[in-house]
Amino acid sequence: MIKKITIEYKLIASIDLLEEEDKNLLHKAMEATNNAYSPYSKFNVGCAVLQADGNITTGTNQENIAYPSGLCAERVAIFSASSLRPNVPIKSIAIVAKNRHKRFCEAMPCGACLQVLSEYEQKFKQKIKIVAYSNNGTVLIFDGVNKLLPFAFASEFV
Ligand code: THU
Repeated sequence: MIKKITIEYKLIASIDLLEEEDKNLLHKAMEATNNAYSPYSKFNVGCAVLQADGNITTGTNQENIAYPSGLCAERVAIFSASSLRPNVPIKSIAIVAKNRHKRFCEAMPCGACLQVLSEYEQKFKQKIKIVAYSNNGTVLIFDGVNKLLPFAFASEFV
């Protein structure tokens, strides 16, 4: 039996059309791209995490000469938010990249980052909205991690 799933997401034509909260978060992620440590890829990723108390924590990719030792911007941001305010639910995360030509470009959370985001959804029993800058200034919005990782590994499996 073959089963199919459909991924529902919003395509917003430009940042200016976002709801204020999402727009502000994406702007914070854009600013953060300047703080990336990406001497090897020259690909700066910036993220901003919004918690339920209104606090925003940013994160950027941190690379290392021993390549696997680096970390994606999403995990830097979410681990940092969780370290600072461990009991405050995470509402949303905005993601954007800046390429080697210093132009904003598309970025999507990798599989490992999605799994980490999924952990905090389970912890707080609340969906995390993903706001991802996409091609030509458009923005994609996913209402919850399961839109991108529908078969996430979960605590009930263990
Ligand atoms: N990177 C992120 O920070 N987030 C992603 O979602 C994908 C990739 C980083 C890892 C590496 O430092 C650079 O982008 C190029 O892959």
